[in-house]
Amino acid sequence: MLDAAGMKKAVAEEAVNRYVKDGMNVGLGTGSTAYYAIKRIGELVASGYDLTCVATSVQSEDLARECGIRVVELDEVDRLHVTIDGADEVDPKMNLIKGLGGALLREKIVAAATEREVIVADSSKLVEKLGTKAPLPVEVLQFGHQHTRYALQRQGCEPVLRMRDGKPFVTDGGNYIYDCRFPNGIDNPFYLETMVDAKPGVVENGLFLNTAVDVLICDPDGNITSMADSALKKG
Ligand code: 5RP
Repeated sequence: MLDAAGMKKAVAEEAVNRYVKDGMNVGLGTGSTAYYAIKRIGELVASGYDLTCVATSVQSEDLARECGIRVVELDEVDRLHVTIDGADEVDPKMNLIKGLGGALLREKIVAAATEREVIVADSSKLVEKLGTKAPLPVEVLQFGHQHTRYALQRQGCEPVLRMRDGKPFVTDGGNYIYDCRFPNGIDNPFYLETMVDAKPGVVENGLFLNTAVDVLICDPDGNITSMADSALKKG
């Protein structure tokens, strides 16, 4: 039986082995699962792969440099061939909640510049309905953030300002995050995304809808499944 770290390592390494090829531009995700993907990418670079990488957070950029990976700004590349990132929740259609690691804004910008967004997760992240296990993180401007909070609350959630060491958590973009808990989950994520994005003060939300081309999942027995392959098999 694998523990959580074992599942994360196995699935991240499988995704890199499957999707990262020599010469590619690669997006580096953020979080404890993406950590293992970055480590594996570092091994490929050490073995001679010529990769150009873009990081979704300062934390991932620092790790990548430690691993000997060449990291450039997103605007230095035309496009990314593949990005390997984690998720907080995955529904059966490969829609996601991301951002508990605080990097949702850059993660979404990088995903939008990516041909193949590949998500890696352990099986605890699977849900039938988004918002049932994780809150939805929403990144907001510091200016007037209490008013943005009231506006978010009117969508039927309880927004809680994310804190770290007794102070509001500040993202790499200099913003705050409200973690929005929906008592019965999110009924219509596409509608909610439009409503949340329309609030003044909202910078980005953690819904990643129709973004992933594949989600690899590892269960405690070490079985790794590709949700894209399963969907193909189902027809
Ligand atoms: C960071 C993220 C992470 O991908 C997400 O929180 C999953 O993290 P972990 O792999 O540590 O469970 O969205 O903003």
